Amino acid sequence: MLERINSLLAEIAEAKAVTAEEAEAFRIRFLSKKGQIPELFEEFRNVAPEAKKEIGVKLNNLKQIALDKYNLLRSEISSAGSEPGNEDLTRPAFPYVLGSRHPISIIRNEIIDIFKRIGFTVSEGPEIEDDDHNFTKLNFAPEHPARDMQDTFYISRISAEDSNPGDILLRTHTSSVQVRVMQTQKPPIRTISPGRVFRNEAISARAHCIFHQVEGLYIDENVSFADLRQTLLFFAREMYGKDIKIRLRPSFFPFTEPSAEMDVSCSICGGKGCNVCKYTGWLEVLGCGMVHPNVLEACGIDSRKYTGFAFGMGIERPAMLKYQVNDLRLYFENDVRFLEQFNTAF
Ligand code: PHE
Repeated sequence: MLERINSLLAEIAEAKAVTAEEAEAFRIRFLSKKGQIPELFEEFRNVAPEAKKEIGVKLNNLKQIALDKYNLLRSEISSAGSEPGNEDLTRPAFPYVLGSRHPISIIRNEIIDIFKRIGFTVSEGPEIEDDDHNFTKLNFAPEHPARDMQDTFYISRISAEDSNPGDILLRTHTSSVQVRVMQTQKPPIRTISPGRVFRNEAISARAHCIFHQVEGLYIDENVSFADLRQTLLFFAREMYGKDIKIRLRPSFFPFTEPSAEMDVSCSICGGKGCNVCKYTGWLEVLGCGMVHPNVLEACGIDSRKYTGFAFGMGIERPAMLKYQVNDLRLYFENDVRFLEQFNTAF
């Protein structure tokens, strides 16, 4: 037994392997179930009890040496490829794992594309705004409830009781961007402002304190409510399909007069009534109206010469409908397992 152990030790010390197959042959010869070393362990049972201790130690030692040698052979083979001169220059590169676009970005780009086709530009502005751009210039009365701490995240307030044009806050809509555009550009103005907005709302499956909007503004001479309606009809058909119907319901916003809310016929049931449209056949998609003369004047535009329309919509709601996502929070958690499902949309 001792002799065989010694001759195996010598053999193992001599062993060489250049290819992976040779390393595998080494493993099979010495270490596999039917290999030399397990065979010796098998025979070890018959060794006389007084010799067991000495031979047992040697046998374990042999096994360890064989394992170490096997690992050494394998590591020599796998590192050989990276030695200078050994690279395979014809091997194709490792593929990049591409990420996917966020569903909110996909829908936002779709909306932007539609309005770009009819001559709207894209304008952006700061998420941290002052009260003047977010409220005052948009004809919000000083005591208007939307300015309240309930809805607005204030960063700094000059006075705790009264709102002040200098108060700093997180914008509650991207209409603030349109104020900036009106202050710096001359009509005709045709622009949309996509962006992230903030409202102090409890987070649930249907509402979040952060969401996304696209708002639009069109100012020129002789712009009428009919232009607003046709523009929105064009948008709805491009976005939701040729057969979609729209309806405008009277509404109120401080910055538009008259104001309306637009519904589209439910794209899930085709207007027949289902649980998505709460059996009304209609889905509310945006707010709109003719820009209030006070807003034009506050932004330095002559309200006797120019008129205009504005509209604003959230992005999360259409994204939920399109992808049949029933919990808004999924859009904000950025779990890759959720996001990966959109990677065909590139
Ligand atoms: N700014 C409004 C909102 O955030 C949407 C809107 C924009 C309504 C323009 C009318 C005109 O809800």
